[in-house]
Amino acid sequence: MAATFASSCFTSNLLQNPSKCVTISRRRIGSVGVPTAEFHLRDLPYELDALEPHMSKKTLEFHWGKHHGGYVANLNKQIAGTDAERLNLSELVLSGYNNGNPLSYFNNAGQIWNHDFFWMSMCQGGGGAPPEDSELLDLIVRNFESFEQFSERFKEAGRSLFGSGWVWLVLKKDAKLEIMKTSNALTPIVWNHIPLLVVDVWEHAYYLDYQNKRPDYLTEFLDNLVSWKVAEERLQRAKAFVNIGEPVIPDL
Ligand SMILES: [Fe+2]
Repeated sequence: MAATFASSCFTSNLLQNPSKCVTISRRRIGSVGVPTAEFHLRDLPYELDALEPHMSKKTLEFHWGKHHGGYVANLNKQIAGTDAERLNLSELVLSGYNNGNPLSYFNNAGQIWNHDFFWMSMCQGGGGAPPEDSELLDLIVRNFESFEQFSERFKEAGRSLFGSGWVWLVLKKDAKLEIMKTSNALTPIVWNHIPLLVVDVWEHAYYLDYQNKRPDYLTEFLDNLVSWKVAEERLQRAKAFVNIGEPVIPDL
C-alpha cells in the first residue's frame, strides 16, 4: 500500500536519501488502466539544501517530508474504498470543494495540490523581478502600475492573512492579474482562476527559519526564492485557454 510505503519512506529513508522515495507519478496506474487510490509524495524539483540560506534544509525536511507527506498519507486513507479512488488529484480538489460545502477529503487533496504548486514556484537563485523583456513583467506593470507596487501588495497580503493559508498571483478569465489570499487548504482553482505563483504562509513554512517574523519570510521569498521562469511558463500555457474562455488547471 502506498500509505505504508510512504510512511516507511518518511521515517527510514527520507532524511538520509530523499531520492529513494518513489514519486514519479502521483498515482499508480492499475493493470486495467484504472487509477488506484494510491498517491505518492512528489519529488521536490531541487535538492533539500538548494534553497539555503533563504529556506533551510531542515525546513524542507519537515515541511515537504512530514507535513506534505502527511497530507498524502491521510488522503490515501480517506478515499480508500470510495468512489473518489477513481479521481485524479485535480478532480479530487474540485469535487471535494463541493460548491463551498467541502467533503472530508478536500483539505488533504487541496494541501497536496497547493504544496506541489508551491515547490515549483521556487528555485535556486530565484527572486528579484521577472526579466525585462518578459510578458509577465509587462502584465504585472499593467495590472499593478509597477513591479514594486505588486511586490508590496503581495507581501501585504501575506502579512495580513489571519491564521494559516496561501497568497497567490492568479490570472483570471478576463486576462487580468489578481493577488488572492486563501485560508487553510483553499485554492483558486475551485473558482476557475489560473494560479501563476503561490507562497505558503502556514507557520510550518517559515517558523524554523524566521520564527514569528512572517514579513521577513515574505521578503526573502520575493527577493531570493520565487521562480519567475516557472510563472512565465504557466502564463504562456494558460493564455490560449484564457483567450477562448476555457481556463485549465496548469500542471506546473
Ligand atoms: Fe505548507
